[in-house]
Amino acid sequence: MSLIKEIQRRRTFGIISHPDAGKTTLTEKLLLFGGAIQEAGAVKSNKIKKGATSDFMEIERQRGISVATSVLAFEYNGIKINILDTPGHKDFAEDTFRTLTAVDSVIVVIDVAKGVEEQTEKLVEVCRMRNIPMIVFINKMDREGKDAFDLLDEIEQKLGLNVVPLSFPIGMGYEFKGIYNIWERNINLFSGDSRKDIEETIEISDLQSPELNTLVGNTAAETLREEIELVEGIYPAFNREDYLNGDLQPVFFGSALNNFGVRELLDCFIDIAPKPRPKQSEERIVNPNEDKFSGFVFKIHANMDPNHRDRLAFIKIVSGTFKRNTPYLHVRHNKKLKFSSPNAFFAEKKEIVDISYPGDIVGLHDTGNFKIGDTLTEGEAINYKGIPSFSPEHFRYINNADPLKSKQLYKGIDQLMDEGVAQLFTLELNGRKVIGTVGALQYEVIQYRLEHEYGAKCRYENLNVYKACWIDPNGSKPEEYNEFVRVKQRFLAKDKQEQLVFLADSPFSLQMTQQKYPSIKFHFTSEFN
Ligand code: G4P
Repeated sequence: MSLIKEIQRRRTFGIISHPDAGKTTLTEKLLLFGGAIQEAGAVKSNKIKKGATSDFMEIERQRGISVATSVLAFEYNGIKINILDTPGHKDFAEDTFRTLTAVDSVIVVIDVAKGVEEQTEKLVEVCRMRNIPMIVFINKMDREGKDAFDLLDEIEQKLGLNVVPLSFPIGMGYEFKGIYNIWERNINLFSGDSRKDIEETIEISDLQSPELNTLVGNTAAETLREEIELVEGIYPAFNREDYLNGDLQPVFFGSALNNFGVRELLDCFIDIAPKPRPKQSEERIVNPNEDKFSGFVFKIHANMDPNHRDRLAFIKIVSGTFKRNTPYLHVRHNKKLKFSSPNAFFAEKKEIVDISYPGDIVGLHDTGNFKIGDTLTEGEAINYKGIPSFSPEHFRYINNADPLKSKQLYKGIDQLMDEGVAQLFTLELNGRKVIGTVGALQYEVIQYRLEHEYGAKCRYENLNVYKACWIDPNGSKPEEYNEFVRVKQRFLAKDKQEQLVFLADSPFSLQMTQQKYPSIKFHFTSEFN
């Protein structure tokens, strides 16, 4: 019984946005509501400061913050909320994609002036593909920005969403007077005072009431009446099932910096957002309320202290209860492991916990047993799906720059790849190692960390690859497949899972190869079974 109760009261989600839209500010205000932090400025932004990409201190600073903000948990009105951090920087997009496998819903933050930006598009697409329920928060209403209807159109068109506004702004920028909450049918007036915990809420059950004119003035009152009429005419009524299935996305307006419109968002969120949901494994669907524990690793963070090379593996609990000092099966290694000091997260602190429930994240100290996607269970051989690798954008040979340290180099590369920092490919022709990354920044991170954490030195050499395509031999004609492997050997490599990968050097050669060997399937993510 208590397991079911604990599941009911959990909400695990991620906030996604293009850098600078206000993710950190919003997170901070949410934590303030939960009483988890006392003052503004307590949540540190994990973003990479502009122009600091080759500053290693900056990378280390960012890593330090990212361990502290990996999970931010707090309680609000009896609900346990777990916010999973998602880096906004595009070079760390893969990290964010993986984190999205561990959330039950997301909040998308959009800057009212900038509208839909590049990273928003990419991240929302991933959520859409997985039918993750999304709520949109349009931020910075205290500034001049795009017209609300134009912006809603832009969101529908560029992000492919079906929006339904659950709140609506009264003016914007200098003229910003407040927000009409369609969900609760009341009005919040904007005072511009961010120190206020909660703005005064005025119930307006009837928009025609003259009280509205007194509150916001005749012109703004009239405009609001017209706009709400339009909203009700254009957009469908909110339907929770559609939202939960990923078919409808409620929209809120506000100003995170001014702590305005945030309470409305949070109250609605805890009402409608999904509790931990069943998860598909390769074997079967696993329900959170099953007695037996299961969970999977979605993130690994190396220790910041180079003298202690242990790591923290972040596990999302899918079913049952996770207990301290209990032996669990590491499915890939088929061996039992026990954890004496699992970490749970509360606001920015981590502490040892005895028991955790579905939806929660625990951090397990790891000396190299885990890699991303690993499953832990009470004995059943379950493998959770859905943590694919995407084709990297950059490819370089990695060479050993200190022959006396080759053991350290290979161990370092191996562990960094398990953490998901980048992908390793080994060429079929000569065994040379190629590192593939999403952004150029990762090469610096790898080089720096190999040297400081493993005492190894590396050098890179350019390699012209356009895309990595995973080759699926199933269903291909054997003679065609054999010819492909023979003729294209120069372009073939194995990834860390020993899957065959074709490293196409141009869009043209990829197209020609696909045409020449039509029975062979080329996949752009590593997970296609
Ligand atoms: P991010 O995590 O999505 O990258 O964004 P972050 O919260 O760091 O916000 C980016 C900038 O936008 C910050 O200003 C922040 O103060 C500002 N901001 C966030 N919400 C609002 C809002 O509702 N209204 C206005 N006017 N600004 C907002 P900054 O100058 O880059 O940083 P800081 O020096 O203020 O920290």
